[in-house]
Amino acid sequence: MKILVATVKPFAAAAVNGIKEIAGKNGHEVVLLEKYIDKSQLLEAVADADALIVRSDKVTAEVIAAAPKLKIVVRAGAGFDNIDLEACTERGIVAMNTPGQNSNAVAELALAMMIFMSRNQFTPGTGMEIKGKKLGIQAYGNVGRLVAEKAKGLGMDVMAFDPFVPAEKMLEDGVTPAESLEAMYGQCNFISLHIPATPSTIGSINYGLISRMPKGGCLVNTARREVINEAELEKVLTDRPDIKYVTDVAAICQEELDEKFPKQVFATAKKMGAETAEANMNAGLAAASQICNYFNTGCTKFQLNR
Ligand code: 3PG
Repeated sequence: MKILVATVKPFAAAAVNGIKEIAGKNGHEVVLLEKYIDKSQLLEAVADADALIVRSDKVTAEVIAAAPKLKIVVRAGAGFDNIDLEACTERGIVAMNTPGQNSNAVAELALAMMIFMSRNQFTPGTGMEIKGKKLGIQAYGNVGRLVAEKAKGLGMDVMAFDPFVPAEKMLEDGVTPAESLEAMYGQCNFISLHIPATPSTIGSINYGLISRMPKGGCLVNTARREVINEAELEKVLTDRPDIKYVTDVAAICQEELDEKFPKQVFATAKKMGAETAEANMNAGLAAASQICNYFNTGCTKFQLNR
């Protein structure tokens, strides 16, 4: 079978080698399409692919239509808002992600961002320590849990909000379950976002929530750009010059935010949460193994479109 690895943001070389090794051992061939700049390149490359591994690359209905032999798509990572699951289902294509495989990298970046903003973006001046400060984690999944664990190690007081996770689980981890999202925003010095982009979360981080944060509050986004209501974020930053926003997923209006609020706002040049050798290796190899298992045994663990 032909496995296409299509990544605008390529995996580290060692991860690519690992993918090739797993595929080779199982009698499959790997074809690489890295750093492509135009959708047409992907459309051409998928024409004879039996399997597809992507990162944040968009697997739209158009891509699916251009891939008549495609049987499985694996998003090497957690968020699958880039995959048209319906289009996959219509064609009987199995879509999977690799949950947890790059979570540590993202969690480490979230903590690094908190410290970076607390130390005035590493510019001279009096900063603030994160020890003893309150951190609110929005969504207590794979990344949220790791952020909680690390933050506790740094002496932070951690609470979390997640309607899908029982309060007992949080309490077991030494994390306080928040009574409501509003209550959490109202008392936390830092809020770290770990929600996916879904119809119910898109645009949900709005003025009403962010403006509840106490003086000097810092909102950390290593999740998705789409969850922020950008116009309302801009309004909070204007009304509350003490509020900070640090993000790994630049806003559409990021240039404007950077210009207007240089001390309050920081965005990475390119999404880098999962950009570690370890995360690339974990997610890439997991994707390759999941594809081989599916072809060998029909295993559909981690299938998203059941
Ligand atoms: C994910 O959903 O796994 C992360 O956002 C990482 O995305 P990336 O593979 O595009 O870096």
